[in-house]
Amino acid sequence: MQNYPYIITISSEKGGVGKTTLATNLAIYLKAMREDLPVTVFSFDNHFTIDRMFELKDLNESGDVHDMLMGATASEVVHTGQYGVGYIPSSNELADIHERFKGPMTLTRMLAESGLSGIVIIDTRPDLNILTQNALYAADRVLIPVKDMPSLENCRNIFALFDKRGIDKKSLALLPCLIDERIKFDGVFRDQKTLLRAFAANRGYRCLDTFISKSPKVESLNTNPDGRIYPILTHARGTDVHGQFTELTRDILRIFDATSESRACLYYSWLLEKEGKKKESYLVRLEGLAERCPICGTSLTEQPEGRGFYYETSDLAARGFLHATCLTDMLCETLYGITQDSQAFSAARLVIAEKARTSVTVFTSRALNNETLLDYRQFNTTGQQLFQKDVGLAGFSEGVLDVNHGRLFLLLNEALAGYEGRLRSGVWLAVHPVDPSDPEAVLQEESYRAILKLKQEIGTALAFSTASAPVVTQAQA
Ligand SMILES: Nc1ncnc2c1ncn2[C@@H]1O[C@H](COP(=O)(O)OP(=O)(O)O)[C@@H](O)[C@H]1O
Ligand SMILES: [Mg+2]
Ligand SMILES: [Zn+2]
Repeated sequence: MQNYPYIITISSEKGGVGKTTLATNLAIYLKAMREDLPVTVFSFDNHFTIDRMFELKDLNESGDVHDMLMGATASEVVHTGQYGVGYIPSSNELADIHERFKGPMTLTRMLAESGLSGIVIIDTRPDLNILTQNALYAADRVLIPVKDMPSLENCRNIFALFDKRGIDKKSLALLPCLIDERIKFDGVFRDQKTLLRAFAANRGYRCLDTFISKSPKVESLNTNPDGRIYPILTHARGTDVHGQFTELTRDILRIFDATSESRACLYYSWLLEKEGKKKESYLVRLEGLAERCPICGTSLTEQPEGRGFYYETSDLAARGFLHATCLTDMLCETLYGITQDSQAFSAARLVIAEKARTSVTVFTSRALNNETLLDYRQFNTTGQQLFQKDVGLAGFSEGVLDVNHGRLFLLLNEALAGYEGRLRSGVWLAVHPVDPSDPEAVLQEESYRAILKLKQEIGTALAFSTASAPVVTQAQA
C-alpha cells in the first residue's frame, strides 16, 4: 500500500459539530504518534482554518485544492506544514467546480493516481454537494461528528448516499462530539453521549466507543492575538479532549495497520485492469485483419507501407487496410470515370484523393427496377452525408472483369460477397481514412469508438433513405 493513500473523510451536513477541529487535530495526533507516517490534510470548505493552522511562511510552494480538482497531481500541491503535517491550501473558488465535477468517483481516481501515501484527511463543507460526495466515496473511513439529535438525524442522508451506490457502509462511523459532560439525565440514558449512542444504534448507525468532550480550553484555541489556531496536542494537554484524541488516533492507526489494500489501491488496480481490457480488445481487433490489400492483392505484412484506409463491413466479416493509391485509383476509374489518359487526370486525382482522406466512403447494394445498383456515398467524420451516387454493376453478377470497374469489383468481392458469391444483403462497407504513419492506431479504444459511433449514424442514414431493402446479387468471379 506504499504508493496509495488511506483516506479519512470527516463529514456532516451540520456546521459547528467539530469537523474541522477533528480533521486538523487528528492529523497532528497521527503524526505525533507515528512520526514516519506521511499525513496530509485538506478541506473543501473556504474558512482557511487549515492554512491558519499549518502554514509555514516563505516556503515558496504553490498550488491549492482548486488546482488539484482541476487536475494537478495531488502530491505536487501538498505543502510542507507545521508539526510535520502536509496540507493542501484551501481555495475560495470551489463553487464553480461543482459544475465540472460530475462523476462521484473523480476524486477517488485523482487520489489513486496521486502518488500520495500514508493517511489523507479530508475536511468537508456542511452539505452533501458533489465534492463532499466525492470525498465520501473516496474514503476508507468516514467519521461523522454528531453533537445532538438534529445532527444525528442528518446522518440519514450520508447513509442513503452509500445505499444508492451500493457501497459497504462499514466504513461509516458516528463520533459524538462537543459532549457536555455536565449534562446528566435521569433514567437509562445517563448523559448526552449515551443518549446519542442509543439513538444511533436504534437507526442502525455504527458509533465509535470514543467521544470528544466539549472543553472551553479547546474552544479558545481558535482565538488568538496572532490569528493562529493552536493544536490540542500542544495547547490543551490538560483536557479530557487530549486523552480522547489519543484514544481515537490509536483506534484509527490500529484499523489502518490492519488494512492491506486501501480503496485508492483497489481503485488503481481496477483502473489498470480496465486499461488492460482496452488493450485486449485492441489486440483482438488487430487479429481479424485481412492479410492483403483487397484491390491489388499485395501482402500487407510484407509491404505495410502506403496503407491509407481502414475498411470494415457492417457485419464485421471483412476488415483490413487498403493502400491509399489503390482506393484513389478505384474511385477515379469507377466513380468518376477518370482514367490515366484523361486530360487533367492528375489534378482530378488529387481532388478525389483529398476528398477520400477527409471523409468516410460507404458502399452498399441497392435494387432499382430489377437491376442491382451500387449505392456509393460519402459521409463526413461527424456522420453527415456529403454525397451519393448510384453506379451500375453491369457485369459484376456475371463475373466479367470490366476494365472500368476492375478495382471496384475486386474490392466488392473481397468485402461484400457472401459464401455463395452473392453480395450479402443489408450489409455495407465503410472505408475510413487512417494516419498513414500509424494505421493501426485507428483500432485503439478511443479512435475505434469514433468508428462505432459513425457506424451507427451511417446505419441510420442508409435505413432512412433506402425504401427498398438492399438486394442480393449474383457474383461468380
Ligand atoms: N471539543 C471541543 N470543545 C469545545 N469547543 C469545540 C470543540 N471542538 C470544536 N469546538 C468549537 O466549535 C466550533 C465549531 O467547530 P468546527 O470544528 O469548526 O466545526 P465544523 O467544522 O463542523 O463547522 C468552533 O468554534 C470550535 O472551536
Ligand atoms: Mg468546518
Ligand atoms: Zn493495394
